[in-house]
Amino acid sequence: MKHLLSIADLGRVGIEGVLRLTDSFVEVSERRIPKVPALRGKSVATLFYEDSTRTRVSFETAAKRLSADTMTVTVGTSSVNKGESVRDTVETLDAMGVDALVVRHASAGVPFQVANWVEASVINAGDGWHEHPTQALLDCYTISERLGTLQDKRIAIVGDIKHSRVARSNVLAFSLLGAEVTLVAPRTLLPPNLERWPVEVSTDLDAVLPKVDVAYLLRLQSERQTEALIPSLREYTATFGLTRDRSRLLPGEAIVMHAGPMNRGVELAPEVADSDVSVITRQVANGVAVRMAVLYLLLSGDLEVPVDGS
Ligand code: CP
Repeated sequence: MKHLLSIADLGRVGIEGVLRLTDSFVEVSERRIPKVPALRGKSVATLFYEDSTRTRVSFETAAKRLSADTMTVTVGTSSVNKGESVRDTVETLDAMGVDALVVRHASAGVPFQVANWVEASVINAGDGWHEHPTQALLDCYTISERLGTLQDKRIAIVGDIKHSRVARSNVLAFSLLGAEVTLVAPRTLLPPNLERWPVEVSTDLDAVLPKVDVAYLLRLQSERQTEALIPSLREYTATFGLTRDRSRLLPGEAIVMHAGPMNRGVELAPEVADSDVSVITRQVANGVAVRMAVLYLLLSGDLEVPVDGS
């Protein structure tokens, strides 16, 4: 496999392969000096046309821990500001010989186009509402770490499903690994054509919470104009927020997840985000090891990624 653009590129077998390899990189990350020479001589460039904290820093940390050279293209101070196209930008980076391009863009499909234009491996770090495959991989890893498996686990994804690339990649990944996924949202924040998704749908969070192993809260994406789709933030939180009171409906072993960044007090109460049921910081820590595994699989040439393409 040369690129990672969608969870569908991996299928169940491929996801399981990445998760197994991640175990080794979690061990590396816990060493006193968390660095191995696996990708010495390789170079990884991050090109983010949308803001990011976790994904960009996580990829850069992962590449450095593998001894790759890293380049951060800061779009705001690049020739993008002089009108340079995405194609010219990525072909310029490719001409400098980068081995991997990690791309985030507000438009769905851009990383797929980039993969047609460059020799480098391309990793989708989030394209519009479409996909965020490495977020899904780190979420699968975190659930497996805490619950042992995703098979037959009941996972509620709650909130702004319509605008969420995290939801799209996670629905694919969770269902490929055998979980039962329920989407919980107001009808205005659900996408059309849900009948093609392998999910149940509910508008009643209080009814769903007592039956889940995982409550996965999504950020209300105000940059994508969600506030016009709900009566008010206060009403949204009252009905769909994981408040402290509502979190008491969760079974004892259930965990709470969020991809970040959070709107504290909107979709998730600060007391819940900071409590023992939350694995949010573990998601971030696992993100580095998962991205080490992805970079290693794409760039090392040592291993063929086992994919079933399903
Ligand atoms: N989860 C995630 O993609 O966070 P960032 O936008 O900070 O990268």
